[in-house]
Amino acid sequence: MGNSFLVTTAIPDPGFQLLADAGRVTVLPEPPDYETLAALCASGDFDVVLTQLRDVIDAPLLAGARLRGVSNFAVGYNNIDVDAATRAGIMVGNTPGVLTDATADIAMLLILGTARRVVEGDQLVRSGRFHGWEPELLLGRDVSGAVLGLAGFGRIARATARRALGFGMEVLFSPRPPSDRPVSDEELGEFVGRVRQVPWEELVERSDFLSLHVPLSDQTRHLVDADVLHRMKPDAILINTARGPVVHEDALVEALQNNVIAAAGLDVFEDEPRLAPGLNELHNTVLLPHVGSATVRVRSEMARLSALNAVAMAEGRAPLHPVSSYVKA
Ligand code: DGY
Repeated sequence: MGNSFLVTTAIPDPGFQLLADAGRVTVLPEPPDYETLAALCASGDFDVVLTQLRDVIDAPLLAGARLRGVSNFAVGYNNIDVDAATRAGIMVGNTPGVLTDATADIAMLLILGTARRVVEGDQLVRSGRFHGWEPELLLGRDVSGAVLGLAGFGRIARATARRALGFGMEVLFSPRPPSDRPVSDEELGEFVGRVRQVPWEELVERSDFLSLHVPLSDQTRHLVDADVLHRMKPDAILINTARGPVVHEDALVEALQNNVIAAAGLDVFEDEPRLAPGLNELHNTVLLPHVGSATVRVRSEMARLSALNAVAMAEGRAPLHPVSSYVKA
């Protein structure tokens, strides 16, 4: 019972109980700023900190931290400098797997929502401007038969491909844009003969819907910039459920304002919760508040995994889902 956990933001059941059964838990009343978090991590009062995506765990913080582990309440861990954590002998865990289907559902929702102009329709009805059925009211795009280009081909991209194939879409993918990596039939598994790998440039040019499923890294920051947007079809739609900074958001606003592409469906933003100027005025967007994993079941599973990761690290064991393999002696 000597373990001590710092939880930066309250998490759903059963997370807290799992931690409380294994030690002392401090849940901060509000999300900490960087200095506060750094001081708490350096205090020596905690074995493990359970973090959210907005908690920046960078090299200077890790160099001063007296922790065994960082347990991220997310599958993505771009908020953590994992190399610096490894150098500091601090383990890192995340929550993969449990949010795959829920996030792919949101990608599909954004594909359908942008194609069928769901926000415009909702606003029309609510504003009292719906005067009955009209032959040319809010005409959208067909999804069946359209080309879906997947940037990335990990778990969530595959789950999106599964859904898109069910909707009769043609699915292309580029596994590690902007560079290439051949994907073998063995790796393709259930998708052999059903989806096709193309180079990133071709994916950009051929997609009716370009959906982003890459982790945020130095290679993928601003993967979709003004140049890429100009190479997309003028009636193409961009979907982002990955990470905001993968898209140059100012360039996207400009492209949407000038009909360089037709629409965008976004669940993530470059500088959350801030939106690039002009984005919220555009009618050809569907904007969601980073809710890819937001179902009751998934958030509870994320809480369970992040707590189990935290308990393991506090006890000097590797987390169930390690991001780095270091285990403190
Ligand atoms: C993640 O887990 O990385 C999502 O962005 C939040 O659930």
